[in-house]
Amino acid sequence: MKKIKNVCCIGAGYVGGPTMAVLADKCPHLEIHVVDINKTRIKAWNDNDLSKLPIFEPGLEKIIKKRRNHNLFFSSEVKKNIRKAEMIFISVNTPTKTKGIGAGFASDLRWIESCARQIAEYAEGYTIIVEKSTLPVRTAEKIKSILNSSLKANNSQNINAQFSVLSNPEFLAEGTAINDLINPDRILIGGDDDDAIKLLEDIYSNWIEKDKILKTNIWSSELSKLIANAFLAQRISSINSVSALCEKTGANVLEVSKAIGMDKRIGEKFLNAGPGFGGSCFKKDILNLIYISEFYGLKEVADYWKSVLDINYWQQNRISSLIIEKLFGTIAGKKISIFGFAFKSNTNDTRESPAINICKNFLNEGCELLIYDPKVTEQEIVSILGSNNLNLDTNKRNWHKLDTIIEAVTNADAIVVLTEWEEFKNINWDIIYSLMRKPAWIFDTRNICNKEEIEKTDINLWQVGISK
Ligand code: NAD
Ligand code: UGA
Repeated sequence: MKKIKNVCCIGAGYVGGPTMAVLADKCPHLEIHVVDINKTRIKAWNDNDLSKLPIFEPGLEKIIKKRRNHNLFFSSEVKKNIRKAEMIFISVNTPTKTKGIGAGFASDLRWIESCARQIAEYAEGYTIIVEKSTLPVRTAEKIKSILNSSLKANNSQNINAQFSVLSNPEFLAEGTAINDLINPDRILIGGDDDDAIKLLEDIYSNWIEKDKILKTNIWSSELSKLIANAFLAQRISSINSVSALCEKTGANVLEVSKAIGMDKRIGEKFLNAGPGFGGSCFKKDILNLIYISEFYGLKEVADYWKSVLDINYWQQNRISSLIIEKLFGTIAGKKISIFGFAFKSNTNDTRESPAINICKNFLNEGCELLIYDPKVTEQEIVSILGSNNLNLDTNKRNWHKLDTIIEAVTNADAIVVLTEWEEFKNINWDIIYSLMRKPAWIFDTRNICNKEEIEKTDINLWQVGISK
């Protein structure tokens, strides 16, 4: 059996970049080429100034510094690197379709299909294709069909091409991606070609114990990825629904989470109430699950998973409304300070961040937003909230990105904590209070601010899931 030496990864995004960086570090004998059609992104991956990498992820810069241009290369040379590779990882985006059949639910597989067509055209010899992207169950069938019809039609540039398709979904979470890749809970490999499975397993065995490498049939592997995300999201919607009940009944969601989490069958992780889950995947993967369930005639299954999304929207809107209510029912002309715009801490990613919907709700009420986030750029927020959103009364732009917490709270009526950045845990609330307009409010949607310190001031504090 041939050994793998040359690896190509198509897609240099949040998955392709960090995954291949760790692979290069753990397998110095491999030569890894990460290719992307987005030339700006590739340029950023190759920037000498490591703070300009396209993705912020703790620990990533160090590995890139060590491996880049040794056995890890970023380029737009798709054709050349597909040809050279014995193993190709597909890590391209699979967003929700916006048009046509299944719009709003099904995954848009156009980028997956284009990868399959490029591989069919350029690959040489025996090539293993590894699905890293999250895909609807039975996508491997479509990839195989494109590859095989190309072989039959003989339009591959190399008649010796031979393909094997494996599913190897990625379970990393942003913000902890490097640690998740180095110490995964499990590696899942789905497929039916024993030789190909063994070659992929050999790569992971360089740093992962054998008993963590789980082998299944290809459809179980594809489906398990969707289900893992759906279960995680379902826990968050469950605890968020409980947060509202706690606020009404005098229970404390932190105490309830602790009490139920100590039951080993429930477990303590993923029980933090918050402003609703964000990120590029939970919503898209559940929408996809709903679509698949409906496709197979399982309406009740589809409805069950839809309720997880419904609670998530509801939590964002519930929090927006109660904040407005507490600020005397109107925020028109008021300054609201937003602490955190990323969908979670330790990432610059804003995709589906609950901050987006909540900020839009506030802007619709005519307030001015003072946004502080240590990693999200102004340019990114412009692309979401727009640059010429004007306040009707003052005719000035109605949101600003500030570089410091102090600037973001000056003359603000309220602070809304939306991302659990570490620096929000240790704030001198005396100074903050002195800079705010009174009565001053903090709405802590993540339960991370120091309650004792806040209570030493006259700031009014609201915490998710905790009744006053
Ligand atoms: P991303 O949008 O950050 O990156 C995808 C990249 O693929 C883009 O840079 C795009 O230009 C490139 N691309 C698309 N088509 C291409 C082609 N034909 N040739 C070359 N490059 C091409 O996406 P992501 O967040 O890295 O997610 C990728 C996949 O991994 C998705 O299916 C996602 O569901 C899954 N996933 C994501 C995460 C995460 O934390 N973001 C975790 C696990 C799994
Ligand atoms: C999630 C999964 O955790 C990964 O296993 C998966 O690989 C990835 O999706 C994917 O497929 O893209 P990610 O979205 O990066 O990872 O981040 P999470 O830590 O899961 O957080 C998602 C959202 O849930 C965030 O908005 C976070 O703040 C929120 N969350 C998380 C809570 O509100 N409460 C919690 O207890 C945990």
